[in-house]
Amino acid sequence: MKGLILSGGKGTRLRPLTFTSAKQLVPVANKPVLFYGIEALVAAGVRDLGIVIGHTGDEIRAAVGDGSQWGAEVTYIPQDAPLGLAHAVKISRDFMADDPFVMYLGDNLVKDGITTFVDEFRSGSHNAQILLAKVANPQQFGVAELGPDGEVVRLEEKPAEPRSDLALVGVYLFDHNIFRAVDSISPSPRGELEITDAISWLIETNLAVRPHVIRGWWKDTGKVEDMLEANRIVLDTFTRNIEGETDSDSVFEGKVVLEPGAVVRKSVVRGPCIIGSGTLIESTFVGPYTAVQKDCRIAGCEIENSIVLEGSSLEAIPDRVEGSLIGRGVSIHRGTRLPKAYRFVVGDNSEVDIF
Ligand code: TTP
Repeated sequence: MKGLILSGGKGTRLRPLTFTSAKQLVPVANKPVLFYGIEALVAAGVRDLGIVIGHTGDEIRAAVGDGSQWGAEVTYIPQDAPLGLAHAVKISRDFMADDPFVMYLGDNLVKDGITTFVDEFRSGSHNAQILLAKVANPQQFGVAELGPDGEVVRLEEKPAEPRSDLALVGVYLFDHNIFRAVDSISPSPRGELEITDAISWLIETNLAVRPHVIRGWWKDTGKVEDMLEANRIVLDTFTRNIEGETDSDSVFEGKVVLEPGAVVRKSVVRGPCIIGSGTLIESTFVGPYTAVQKDCRIAGCEIENSIVLEGSSLEAIPDRVEGSLIGRGVSIHRGTRLPKAYRFVVGDNSEVDIF
């Protein structure tokens, strides 16, 4: 069994971060989303991994390397343009060489892993298996309809009138028949080869597509709110571990992770939260569900429910920073120059809210 991780794409919903960086490398609790997927595959015994990469491929290669840090072997599969999930399957044909494989969307998080799902496929004789979860808003997902014998009988992409509340989660298992399917379908109105069309082709060709409904939490981290939610859920699983440098004027409450090399002075840090190595927190309140990566500086601020990427600096911001995703090397500070004013130098598609 091989693995195919999709780490190309456009990432339009996470702009401006995705203008310069891969969305799969945005950290959740200080670890790139993509790494959770690699770990889930390796835990399921899938170590021969193909990673589809696009315009952010160099950054993905630099972060993942040859996969040996997970005991995996990684082959990179460049995709010239983000022409759809089924297109990513199509270009991976040589790598798969007719082996069955798990396809994992590189921006998805499945809290309880995929081992049961993969084992079920290994022990069965189906041609494909799709991971489903009950959702409250099926109109916004690919939706599966199951027949009386539990097989998948129909898939619909974002249906106005959904026939079930079972949404497709970003993990799929396929045998070699999927290559016939992706060769048989045409691009959708949005110009992409859709994986739902390829799976529908399998169903129409009377191949067996089996569902696996998960009960645990999962997230497609395509949007800022999803990133923050994923961050909250992963931070909640942490246990307190203070290894960095602290002083007697600081207070640590609850599940705080202070990595070695982080420094906290004259501050209140309330977990669950994580502060990366080389980061300095001074005269600051760090509230629940905050993840600050390495080499940041936060002084004279209040911050909670936020993700701060490496090398950023926040200083003397008068109001609490909340629900924010702050990219790499960002500087936000209050100066003393008059007249008082807001001064912004922000990239395309940035968002600044002042409440
Ligand atoms: P999506 O989130 O569906 O698409 P996207 O990355 O283009 O994002 P947006 O909708 O915000 O513009 O993609 C799911 C995963 O699959 C993600 O990790 C990117 C990857 N992907 C590819 O590798 N190749 C592709 O052609 C597409 C469409 C996505």
